[in-house]
Amino acid sequence: MMDWTDRHCRFFHRQLTRRALLYTEMVVADAVIHGNRERLLGFDEAEYPVALQLGGSEPAKLAEAARIGAAFGYDEINLNVGCPSDRVQSGTFGACLMKVPDLVGACVAAMKESVAIPVTVKCRIGVDDQNPEEALDRLADAVFSAGADALWVHARKAWLQGLSPRENRDIPPLDYGRVYRLKERLSKKFIGINGGVQTIDEAATHLAHVDGVMLGRSAYHTPGILAAVDARIYGEAERAPMLPDVVDAMAAYAARHIEQGGKLSHVTRHMTGLFHGRGGARRFRQILSTDATRPGAGPEVLHRAFLEVAPGAQDEAA
Ligand SMILES: Cc1cc2nc3c(=O)[nH]c(=O)nc-3n(C[C@H](O)[C@H](O)[C@H](O)COP(=O)(O)O)c2cc1C
Repeated sequence: MMDWTDRHCRFFHRQLTRRALLYTEMVVADAVIHGNRERLLGFDEAEYPVALQLGGSEPAKLAEAARIGAAFGYDEINLNVGCPSDRVQSGTFGACLMKVPDLVGACVAAMKESVAIPVTVKCRIGVDDQNPEEALDRLADAVFSAGADALWVHARKAWLQGLSPRENRDIPPLDYGRVYRLKERLSKKFIGINGGVQTIDEAATHLAHVDGVMLGRSAYHTPGILAAVDARIYGEAERAPMLPDVVDAMAAYAARHIEQGGKLSHVTRHMTGLFHGRGGARRFRQILSTDATRPGAGPEVLHRAFLEVAPGAQDEAA
């Protein structure tokens, strides 16, 4: 998610789940090819498994960007066919590609040819006045015939005119049934669902119908829910991570980041919701939003914020 799931956010989420696949922000293919690659693509090995999401609509450029991403060590390349923002529409990529499934297929084919890692697509159920029954089938058939390894579907339309990107994540109604029907038709293909999933229990319910569940805002705003993923979704026997350990790991990570010239808030801005719903959560959030953003703030601010959390709420995350 753009501006959210940067490397610091992913490192943090990885402390909460060892198994869930993490996604980068969308990076435009041209930027990967011409931009500062270390800044755009660099990540910490601890983030594995991690997928790189690309934006674009030119097969040759996407193939080149995918190759660069694979060489950086990403586990998967994902093509964005769901983002409705104006900036993205002007470059002919994102959700407007729902209208040109053959072009999306050509993009996938080119990326598949250039990398050995999985190539996946994330889309909507349709855009504007498209009929989702037809539009999603056409898109799915195009990407799977081109060799896509998975299709993730944000289970609502995007309206390219008249709604802001934010409204496009809330106003068009969710239609999980449409995604379930796609899975029934393409039973051998990996179909993942996304949109409005708030809890790990809800995710588990979707898994009776589809192969994967992608969490966006809930994972970001209430990251503590991720601590239940390994046991509940992957059946891991290990106990959930302990929150004091997560805070310690993040303080050590922040110290390294600061040593390299970064700021504490680059790391802690993603952590404000960690204690959501627990005693002291508000104070924890306040300290991270104020003291942690002051010039020269060090990792001790994170520890100090943690001391505000009620003792009973400090322990196991899940
Ligand atoms: C701040 C923000 C940035 C986002 N950036 C991306 C992005 O770069 N690529 C993408 O595929 N979806 C992006 N999304 C959409 C989410 O991935 C997701 O599809 C959407 O929020 C619905 O899922 P949710 O209800 O679980 O959040 C973004 C969402 C938000 C809130």
